[in-house]
Amino acid sequence: MNNFQYYNPVRIVFGEGQIKELANLVPDNARVLITYGGSSAKKTGTLDEVKTALQGKQREIFEFGGIEPNPEFNTLMKAVDMVHANNIDFLLAVGGGSVLDGTKFVALTATLDDDKDHEKAWEALKGYTRDIQNALPLGTVLTIPATGSEMNSGGVINHSERHAKLPFGNPLVFPQFSILDPAKTLTLPERQVMNGVGDAFVHVMEQYLTYPVNAKVQDSFSESLLKILIEEGRAVKANPNDMETRKNIMWTATMALNGLIGTGVPQDWTTHMIGHELTSLHGIDHARTLTIVLPGVMRELKDSKKDKLLQYAKNVWHITEGSDEDKIEQAIVNTENFFRELGLPVRLSDADLDASAIAPILSQLEEHNMVKLGEHRSNDLAVSERILRAAI
Ligand code: NZQ
Ligand code: ZN
Repeated sequence: MNNFQYYNPVRIVFGEGQIKELANLVPDNARVLITYGGSSAKKTGTLDEVKTALQGKQREIFEFGGIEPNPEFNTLMKAVDMVHANNIDFLLAVGGGSVLDGTKFVALTATLDDDKDHEKAWEALKGYTRDIQNALPLGTVLTIPATGSEMNSGGVINHSERHAKLPFGNPLVFPQFSILDPAKTLTLPERQVMNGVGDAFVHVMEQYLTYPVNAKVQDSFSESLLKILIEEGRAVKANPNDMETRKNIMWTATMALNGLIGTGVPQDWTTHMIGHELTSLHGIDHARTLTIVLPGVMRELKDSKKDKLLQYAKNVWHITEGSDEDKIEQAIVNTENFFRELGLPVRLSDADLDASAIAPILSQLEEHNMVKLGEHRSNDLAVSERILRAAI
């Protein structure tokens, strides 16, 4: 196992009906900006529930809606302007990964010097927001289990005009608290539920499917999370209203990307970095880009990932028969079949793309300096091209 420091200050408030806890979690005299997405928080009644919980005390409540899936830089800058105009001192994100990520970015960039054209915020995003020294405090109410944003300090921001979807991370934007009410996930369309399971599955794979460093806690936690996602992904498809299943999916997705399984182990993230380009060029849902790219990553990198692929085949899929080559191929096929069962795509063609899509993706990867990906930093553009060819 490699050396590591693990720090995670996020208070998780888990369970049905827990939105009422906002009354105790948000400072009494805060000027709160509630941020939310398109229309789901309003339609489902979650926004009203949040506002009711915040009433009383000396809080002043403001609202900013319209944060898109794959949150848009320009929209978020409008929220920054609103923060400045109203002296907001607490942000409360109500929604999925997009709203949470966008709100984290607002929390960071609102503390930059007054910058009307938001050029500093764009520069900060290009620099992963590493140099930002202050952030507004924030809390979250999660309505879709998928990204882990509720318990980590990262996010991904889209800039359509610049054809860029870029990640950032800064420990200042760990949420102070996140409320996880599994009942809130019952209103999700099936597509979003399955996207969430797929995204969480690939988060685990990015941190697990590298090379062994004898990290037994991280490996066995990861294998457990993968097995739970397989079991509960199938269960939620068969019986969407089962609350126990919803609870397990929600907590698993959080655990998949709160840093725990990634401590002290090498990490990959090739699938995500290629996936971000697919979203930015073709608007494909985040999770669906991942399930398209991952099988190609597994096949193209099967030599450097051989030990972990065999471990995955044995411990997650219970594959024990055949040559090493056979076991690895079977594990990849099982992974693809699982994604297909959930209605997730596993090839570019499933998203109506063909080989002509590959060159622009490679240009974008180059433009964003994503040319040394993976646990060995050895996935250059030629490797990414082979991965994408395997995904046709
Ligand atoms: O916009 P509204 O109307 O609210 O609808 C949303 C949206 O259309 C809807 N929705 C959310 N909760 C709902 C609901 N509909 C009905 N009932 C509910 N309870 O779901 C749609 C998708 O929402 P979104 O927030 O985009 O989904 P998700 O949580 O999958 O987030 C995806 C974003 O997170 C980033 C992705 O790149 C993508 O931009 N990621 C963030 C990460 C992180 N912070 O660590 C890691 C991930 O790898 C991921 O990259
Ligand atoms: Zn993801």
